[in-house]
Amino acid sequence: MSIRKVVIPVAGWGTRSLPASKNVPKEMLPIYNKPAIQYIVEEAMGAGLTDVVLVTNREKRIIEDHFDYNLQLESVLERANKTEMLHQVRAVAEMVNTISIRQKRQLGLGHAVRCAREVVKDAPFGVMLGDDLIFGADAGIGQLVEAMKRFGLPAVGVCEVPRDKVNRYGIVDGEEIAPGIFRVRRLVEKPSVEEAPSNRAIVGRYLLTPDIFSHLDAVQPGKDGEIQLTDALQSLAASRGLLAVSMHGQRYDAGDWVEYLTANIHLALEDKTLHDDLLEKLSALLKSAGRK
Ligand code: UTP
Repeated sequence: MSIRKVVIPVAGWGTRSLPASKNVPKEMLPIYNKPAIQYIVEEAMGAGLTDVVLVTNREKRIIEDHFDYNLQLESVLERANKTEMLHQVRAVAEMVNTISIRQKRQLGLGHAVRCAREVVKDAPFGVMLGDDLIFGADAGIGQLVEAMKRFGLPAVGVCEVPRDKVNRYGIVDGEEIAPGIFRVRRLVEKPSVEEAPSNRAIVGRYLLTPDIFSHLDAVQPGKDGEIQLTDALQSLAASRGLLAVSMHGQRYDAGDWVEYLTANIHLALEDKTLHDDLLEKLSALLKSAGRK
């Protein structure tokens, strides 16, 4: 069974990232020197997923352009002998096949995934959200591909979150069947601290089977009019079964400014050409911030 397609919904409003995301999609905001979505696509490629299905709206063309050739820029770089940069720019265009689908009305994440039905057809597929950045060798969607191969079940990625933040996430109640792999008993959407069955939160990595679409058809819109993916996952867990896999590596929520900034510093510090200068500036900044 080969899994090739990954759906990346990018049609949301990105209100948490305003005003930066007023005219630039939040997925195009840089994390160090690349737009956030490029890390997502690189992670997908690393897991063998080659066809990216972007669920977009009219404001998001710039994302498709990022994964396409820019011949004018390439010829400028070629003439200037900027060979290394030329290779980098070209490599982004050659990374994956992109297929775009319009979500004409923003009716929630579940609805966005449902828009990809005709493209996904009858094969298992990934879903990745641009807000959740996961850095680390072998971390992320590839873990879900491995889990599906091993147990034959769809899977969601989970991370442990501080108890006082469980009310922001879908929380998993499950039985551990292998180290870091849980069989989901139930999912509780945004529970209070008292109601939460654990602190394992669903983060934006899913590997789904096509029967998710019939579960999505049955989901009633919530109070806000949105069709929630979690509701369909809950009924998928009850009928076919669902795994929750603890993500390795370091996860950052790019929609949260503290985490967004930390992710930038994390990656910039990994660049040897910046490391020492950046550390020096940061230490000076921390010292002066500490004095206030
Ligand atoms: P979020 O719930 O984070 O919504 O969507 P959002 O509007 O993007 O962001 P905030 O919270 O207002 O800052 C989760 C993912 O689902 C996509 C978003 O683009 C995001 O990647 N999405 C959401 C859609 O594609 N369509 C929708 O109708 C809703």
